[in-house]
Amino acid sequence: MILPGCNSQDLGYRVSKLLNAEMCRVEFKRFPDGELYVRVLSDVKDRDVYVISTQHNQNDAIVESILISDALEDEGANTIHLVAPYLAYARQDKKFNKGEPISIRALGKMYSHIYDSIYTVNPHETHIESFFTVPFIYGDAIPKIGKYFLNKLNNPVVLSPDKGAVKMAKTVSEILNCEYDYLEKVRLSPTEIKIHPKNLDVNGNDVLIVDDIISTGGTMATAIKMLKESGANKIVAACVHPLLIGDALNKLYMAGANEVIGTDTYISEVSRISVDTVIANMIKNE
Ligand code: R5P
Repeated sequence: MILPGCNSQDLGYRVSKLLNAEMCRVEFKRFPDGELYVRVLSDVKDRDVYVISTQHNQNDAIVESILISDALEDEGANTIHLVAPYLAYARQDKKFNKGEPISIRALGKMYSHIYDSIYTVNPHETHIESFFTVPFIYGDAIPKIGKYFLNKLNNPVVLSPDKGAVKMAKTVSEILNCEYDYLEKVRLSPTEIKIHPKNLDVNGNDVLIVDDIISTGGTMATAIKMLKESGANKIVAACVHPLLIGDALNKLYMAGANEVIGTDTYISEVSRISVDTVIANMIKNE
């Protein structure tokens, strides 16, 4: 049974269709003081229930997932699973300064108490699975980005913004049957840096830059500007989780991007690729 969170009703429906699974009816409300209210209306007794919750409104989504799990347990669900395609707080995966929490560890402990397993898509760092004491399963939406761009680019090359992310560029390049590379930052002077593809010349190529997250857009915008200067033709910025905080999208277009695209793990203006099949396959294969 698929239970879509308040902000994931479309994605939940599509996953349920792909799995031929029943949808769970839920009521969502907000009290005048801002607190959330949920009520599970379908019969969930002895059912295996998958709660699909895109956590783009993260604090509400987290509370909602706690309330839903409590209701499901009370109503006699057999197992309860959280599918958070974008897992909020996962980027605070270590202590950067004394006195800080490891936020995803704190949430991992909590989720592990109330869910039987956790599913996500392209977590920023996979080592976070050690913070969960229940199965932590993750899917890969990068091939869907590759397939989306099949026959849409002329003489493409695929780039990642840094060496660490080059695997994503490789995956997409194999689908598009083209070359891939990563962007390297070279410091020319104390005040001047140059970002350029490590090995490839992109002059005259359509360039697809792939990353897991676009947050403030700073990383991508710098790369786009430099690639324009290197003579790239069309430039497309693609990511799995389009957080696009504040004026990030505007920043990317002003830097010279011809297109910005992301998936629906995080609902934004550019969420045009769905991770429905990625989620359905993860659930099917467990
Ligand atoms: C970094 O490790 C990530 O893969 C992204 O490159 C980063 O989170 C993007 O952040 P921003 O859009 O704020 O530059």
